[in-house]
Amino acid sequence: MKNLKTLKEADVRGKKVLLRVAYDITLQKKDGQMIVPDDARIRATIPTIEYLLGQGCSLGLLSWLKRPGGQVVEDMRMRPVAERLAKLLGKPVKTVLDCVGPEVQDVVANMQPGDIVMLENVRFHPEEEKADGTFAKELTAGFDLIVYDAFAQAHRIHSSTTGILEHLPSCAGLLFEKEITTLSHLLENPDRPFIAVMGGAKISDRVDVMQNLIELADKILIGGALANTFFAAKGMAVEKSLVEDVYVNAAKGEKQDYQEIARKLMEKGAEKIKLPIDMLSAPSPEGEVKVINVDQGEALPKNWAYFDIGPRTIALYNQILKDSKMVFANGPMGLFEQEQFAGGTKEVAESIIRSGATSVIGGGDTESIVARYGWEGKFTHVSTGGGASLEFLGCREFPVMKYLTK
Ligand code: 3PG
Repeated sequence: MKNLKTLKEADVRGKKVLLRVAYDITLQKKDGQMIVPDDARIRATIPTIEYLLGQGCSLGLLSWLKRPGGQVVEDMRMRPVAERLAKLLGKPVKTVLDCVGPEVQDVVANMQPGDIVMLENVRFHPEEEKADGTFAKELTAGFDLIVYDAFAQAHRIHSSTTGILEHLPSCAGLLFEKEITTLSHLLENPDRPFIAVMGGAKISDRVDVMQNLIELADKILIGGALANTFFAAKGMAVEKSLVEDVYVNAAKGEKQDYQEIARKLMEKGAEKIKLPIDMLSAPSPEGEVKVINVDQGEALPKNWAYFDIGPRTIALYNQILKDSKMVFANGPMGLFEQEQFAGGTKEVAESIIRSGATSVIGGGDTESIVARYGWEGKFTHVSTGGGASLEFLGCREFPVMKYLTK
């Protein structure tokens, strides 16, 4: 992206930097302690941190973690994240018990070049999600400049996103720049054939991006529970399969019928959208498995559900992916957490890797799948932002962008 205010162009030497990171990590409890099971999001920010340290900066790191609802939740503190970062960097990372207030201001005032302080989870304050301006200003107290590296948290209007950027000069961090540059390439000038692989549970998060991909991509391969909405839209019985309900917000007078949306997408993208031709089904995730050839009109047994794409679909998708030059993949093809339904996700991912195409994958589950199967480094780019990458590819302008562009 041409007009992004980049870190390398900014004069950051010796500055006190408020480094906005997206460490929204699902922590796990082990022997009574919270631990970081997957540090991909922390590792992704190391280049920015090392660059800033090399410039003699001192750093205050700010993020939210999960949804504590505006109050302190002990299991959602940033300390385990700080400890993992310290280990990765091989240097101390100080923690504080808040992200604003006198203790924090004192620590920030006394930061020396090379010091790193992890501020506490910003969502412990109810002001954060209200985008309270006074709170945003407090968050910036004592800092000279903001380096915004929180791609995964760029699609929200909160005090710690757009709010802080009102109060200090800013630029994008190296991770943010890499995410935006890669996704922009996909939007503006994809290598062809460009194949999109869409899975996961919900169509609601993916409506805009699918509208866009129908224009942009050469083919869209559907899997996961997302496929069920398309089957239902075609009038096929999906029994107990996971299908997203009609969304109704009576108070706001809003209604979204996802099957209707799927029908429209199929009309518009008749040539491009590929649905599974067979599915793995079972009465429950642990139950006996049966292949249903959906393209031959085979019916799903009463009260059974679809849990993965079937072998013929895998072969079909592999064939299409073999010649691809660019792939965007989002969401698993089946219930991969259950070994007997991990095949679709594994095989499709492996065929993306084998194709040698420029591959961009994203989505919360996608990151954990990469870690689970040891696929680090096999894809061109693994986006750190699930919701954010979908919004970006759905052409929704990130609210922070107006501050981070020239
Ligand atoms: C992410 O990791 O995708 C974001 O931190 C999620 O933020 P949300 O809780 O506002 O969806």
